Parts: sequence; C-alpha cells; structure tokens
Amino acid sequence: MIMKQFDHLMLFFLLHTSCSTLLTLAQAPAAAPVVAPKATPVLAPASSPAPPGPTNVTKILEKAGQFSTFIRLMKATQVANQLLGQLNNTNNGITIFAPSDSAFSSLKSGTLNSLSDEQKVELIQFHIIPTYLSSAQFQTISNPLRTQAGDSGDGKFPLNVTSSGDTVNITSGLTNTSVSGTVYTDGQLAVYQIDRVLQPLQIFDPRPPAPAPAPAKSKKKKDDDVADSPADDSTDNSKAVRFTIGNNVGLFGVTAIVIALISL
Ligand SMILES: *[C@@H]1O[C@H](CO)[C@@H](O)[C@H](O)[C@H]1NC(C)=O
Ligand SMILES: *[C@@H]1O[C@H](CO)[C@@H](O)[C@H](O)[C@H]1NC(C)=O
Ligand SMILES: *[C@@H]1O[C@H](CO)[C@@H](O)[C@H](O)[C@H]1NC(C)=O
Ligand SMILES: *[C@@H]1O[C@H](CO)[C@@H](O)[C@H](O)[C@H]1NC(C)=O
Ligand SMILES: *[C@@H]1O[C@H](CO)[C@@H](O)[C@H](O)[C@H]1NC(C)=O
Repeated sequence: MIMKQFDHLMLFFLLHTSCSTLLTLAQAPAAAPVVAPKATPVLAPASSPAPPGPTNVTKILEKAGQFSTFIRLMKATQVANQLLGQLNNTNNGITIFAPSDSAFSSLKSGTLNSLSDEQKVELIQFHIIPTYLSSAQFQTISNPLRTQAGDSGDGKFPLNVTSSGDTVNITSGLTNTSVSGTVYTDGQLAVYQIDRVLQPLQIFDPRPPAPAPAPAKSKKKKDDDVADSPADDSTDNSKAVRFTIGNNVGLFGVTAIVIALISL
C-alpha cells in the first residue's frame, strides 16, 4: 500500500517535472534575450582587458610621442573623428603611415600654410590606407595603392610601396621614403612611422589642366587689339575671325558683323 502511494507520488512528481520542463522550453525564446546580455558584461571584463569601442588612434600616437604635428592636423581636419567611425565599422581595417615631427619640420617652410583646408584634409588622408596591411603583406601588394585621399590615377594620389627583406620603400612620385618603425599593430589597425611627409602629386605637382588655355590668352589679346581698331579693312577682320576659331567664335563673330556694319 505504502509502495503504491509512493509510486503515485513519483508519477506525480515526474509529470510535474516534465510539465515544468515543457513550460520552461515554451518560455525559453522569450527568456533568452533577457538572460544573455546580463551574462556578457559580467564575463567580459574578467576575460578580456580590451577597452570597449573603436581603437583610439590619437591616443596611440600620443603614447608613442614625436607625432604631435600629425595629431594636430588629424584633429584640425576632422580625420581623427572619421577614423574612429571607420575603425568601429570596418572589416578591412586601416593602415596609417604616420610622419614624425621631424618629417614635418623638414618640409620646405611655409608648405603647410600654403595649403587650403581641403588640401590639408587630402594630405592627411593620403597617409591612410583603408585596409589593414601587415609588414608581410607589403611584399605582395599591388601598386599603386589607393589611399583615403581617393583617385590613385596618374598625377592624382598614387602611392607605391615596394618591399624587400626588412626594407619597405614608399613613393608618392614626389617623396621617396621608407618605413622606419612599427608604432602599433593589432590585426585591424597598423601604424607605421615614416620620416618624410608623403607629398601627393595632385597637391604639390598638379598637372597643367590642358595646354590650350595659355596660348588662348595671348591670342585673345591679339584679337582685342584688332577689335580696338575697327578702322582696319575687311581683310584684317577675316584674319581676326580665323584666329578665334574654336575659342570665342561667337563673340568675335558678332564683332566681325559690327565691324562689317561700320565699314558699310
Ligand atoms: C582619444 O584619446 C585622446 C587622447 O588620449 C582623447 O583626448 C580623446 O578624447 C579620445 N577620443 C575618444 C573618442 O575616446
Ligand atoms: C560603433 O558601432 C556601433 C554599431 O554600429 C554603434 O552602435 C556605436 O555607437 C558605434 N560607436 C562609436 C563610438 O562610433
Ligand atoms: C629602397 O630604397 C633604397 C634607397 O632608395 C634602395 O637602395 C632600395 O633598393 C629600395 N628597396 C626596394 C625594395 O625598393
Ligand atoms: C607605381 O607603380 C605603378 C605600377 O607598377 C607604376 O606604373 C608607376 O609608375 C609607379 N609610380 C611611381 C611613382 O613609382
Ligand atoms: C625617388 O626614387 C626614384 C626611383 O628610385 C628616383 O627616380 C627619383 O628621382 C627619386 N625622387 C626623389 C625626389 O628623390
């Protein structure tokens, strides 16, 4: 009798247990999100000392010392803030060629002051590659590299890196230098020291827009001289029109008509 009662109790207990298990399972999806975030912050500080949020490039450069000009320019141009956002979002990582203070002081004096705000932004962006590059990757890189300054086409913002052994050479077409040290590297961000400021062609050796404008100016002067003396005969007028073909044809066509009318 006692055994039988015990059996019933057991059965009740088992049923009860499986019911609550079912209940728990049914509740599980709703309960999970509440539990998970609670557990993570408790575990994270204990297991990894890494600070939350994106890597602070400014802090890294400050700690390294001798990059005060580069830091100042990164802040003034807002590139420092751009980098924070990029490092928080990128899967490709970032590589920075950071010019030392002596790199900036060996620039021709007045160089930085001669730049517009836009050119300063471009100059700083020219030192940043939107990809993480380990020193081993320099061996196999394909040139020209595309920097944050954009267009790596001829005469624009091309940057070439060649490497052999421990030497990593960099050229912008105007500046030749080599990496003089690794400041920081963590698999997502790499910061290398260079001792020359990389001067992009687009800013420091802009290609003449086209050969046409210069001669066109002197031609126009000649045309003005002609227009100033409408007393000349019709032969000279036709000459003036011929000079301006493809240039100010419309304007001088009108001039020619006026001159023709006057000579009537
Ligand atoms: C990055 O570090 C610098 C220098 O320590 C600090 O002034 C700046 O506020 C930091 N920026 C962020 C977004 O934490
Ligand atoms: C980093 O990115 C996450 C998700 O995109 C966003 O919620 C967070 O505000 C960002 N933090 C900073 C400092 O930009
Ligand atoms: C790097 O530049 C130096 C000096 O200009 C040169 O001697 C060397 O061959 C270059 N190395 C590479 C890998 O381009
Ligand atoms: C950079 O490399 C490209 C591709 O090899 C080459 O065409 C170009 O002339 C190089 N520029 C400089 C400045 O070395
Ligand atoms: C940079 O190096 C190239 C190839 O080694 C050379 O032709 C050029 O004259 C150098 N430019 C400067 C500014 O030193």
